[in-house]
Amino acid sequence: MILNRNRESFSGLLGSGLFIMMVCLCHPFSDKKVREHLSAKDGKKCGMSEVYSTCSGGNKPQCCTCLETLKDMVKTHNKTVAA
Ligand code: FES
Repeated sequence: MILNRNRESFSGLLGSGLFIMMVCLCHPFSDKKVREHLSAKDGKKCGMSEVYSTCSGGNKPQCCTCLETLKDMVKTHNKTVAA
């Protein structure tokens, strides 16, 4: 498991399928789950709260430590889809 604070140093390894990065620890879900959700959006933009809610099983953030990572992932996704 790679914690959020180490994500920069392991960013080159992520997406290789060899590592799973836990995005949220309060309501555990990984980057894989987030990417699956974003892929299922079929080229449509989405919001952080929707992604968090879906990936966490309908929960709301507790400590909010993961939100910066989630924000980066959603922002990157939204940049790749048509306006
Ligand atoms: S780590 Fe995601 S809400 Fe705490």
